[in-house]
Amino acid sequence: MSIEDIDDTTGPLTNTNTGTGTGTGTTDDLLRERAHAELAAARTRTAGLTDVVSDPDLTAQHSPLMSPLVWDLAHIGNQEELWLLRRVEGREAMRPEIDPLYDAFQHPRSERPSLPLLGPAEARRYAAEVRGRVLDLLERTPLEGTPLLDGGFAFGMIAQHEQQHDETMLITHQLRAGPPVLAAPDPDAPWDGAAGNGLPAPEVLVPGGVFTMGTSTEPWALDNERPAHPRETEPFFIDTVPVTNAAFQAFIEDGGYTEPRWWAAEGWEQVRRHGIGAPLFWHREGGQWLRRRFGVTEPVPPEEPVLHVSWYEADAWARWAGRRLPTEAEWEKAARYRPETGQSAGYPWGDADPTPDRANLGQRHLRPARAGSYPAGASALGVRQLIGDVWEWTASDFLPYPGFRAFPYREYSEVFFGPAHKVLRGGSFAVAPAACRGTFRNWDLPVRRQIFSGFRTARDV
Ligand code: AVJ
Ligand code: FE
Repeated sequence: MSIEDIDDTTGPLTNTNTGTGTGTGTTDDLLRERAHAELAAARTRTAGLTDVVSDPDLTAQHSPLMSPLVWDLAHIGNQEELWLLRRVEGREAMRPEIDPLYDAFQHPRSERPSLPLLGPAEARRYAAEVRGRVLDLLERTPLEGTPLLDGGFAFGMIAQHEQQHDETMLITHQLRAGPPVLAAPDPDAPWDGAAGNGLPAPEVLVPGGVFTMGTSTEPWALDNERPAHPRETEPFFIDTVPVTNAAFQAFIEDGGYTEPRWWAAEGWEQVRRHGIGAPLFWHREGGQWLRRRFGVTEPVPPEEPVLHVSWYEADAWARWAGRRLPTEAEWEKAARYRPETGQSAGYPWGDADPTPDRANLGQRHLRPARAGSYPAGASALGVRQLIGDVWEWTASDFLPYPGFRAFPYREYSEVFFGPAHKVLRGGSFAVAPAACRGTFRNWDLPVRRQIFSGFRTARDV
């Protein structure tokens, strides 16, 4: 990870050995080690998410919004085979007949359970066989010379792809009915609220002017994060912590879900049609708000960032509070801009890799940490929990940066550009550290609530 300035115009496909690597150096061996470690970490988590349920549970569809877990399992192997064994190594397809089953564009999620998918044992065997060949390839292949190999990009892309599906599979677990099968310790990060003092200011002023958005040097950054480019913002205020459950409850109690004036038209329509009156997975019992979280019903914790809200709910809350969602550029500036140098860092805290004391990432915990946690992860301007905990909805549509080039395939980002999708930033507790950075862009439909989504707000000066 390197500090970037606006003079850096390195193209998206010529990113080898610029900067100082991703915190592990630039040599071939270190890239190889990092790729190996991330592929292994992803597979460990994939196994953890799929070994805890029975075969019928793996092949069942727990929600029409999600694939059966066994689909994710074979899709992970299929993408890995496609990009690393076929495109990079030049091998023939191992099982050409299964490709259409695992092409996300040929079958919507709701249809996937009726496909002749590989069974659990077959899917595991296929993914393991692909992985064995990939590790062999990783030992011998040069990590430069073609755009896919430069900086180990294809290996990093595939590790991130599996890690992204590990988050998708965790969402499936959250939607799944029945007793809990997953467990993790609660976050233990320092939290200022405990002492009742030293709390971060509720908002900070981010100065107006140009900053560098996106990256051209981060070797494993995906196409939509590229290239680095100057972006101007007006000065603005932004919340130092995400909006909490307690703050969201105040909106509910104030009749927020019954007041059309807070809602965008399509959001109001969704609220009315589905009778929505609280974040997904919440229900009221005996005057108390409870939530279901991975099979456990528990009181809604007031200090935790609100989770499982749609873009429309976030937008309505902000309007009710006399505020607004930050734009994507504002979010990134709050996260990366260093006033003392004028440059953009890789993460809020600087250029070092994420560590457990800086951010709640990687499914180490199965919930966000309380708002006001992770002082070590604060940005230069004092904004906390930008990385990890909850994905943060932004006001922005998912659009290409100036100079965007689809790489290595149009279906990763390009086909989703446009006003239908809103950008989410920062990553949730379910995101792996290697699949999350100050420049990382996620997107979804504004009606979606099953994702690990929350928000913070901003306002004009
Ligand atoms: C970036 C999370 C929107 O899950 O649809 C996985 C990631 N792309 N396989 C998604 C992805 C292809 C993508 N998101
Ligand atoms: Fe995928």
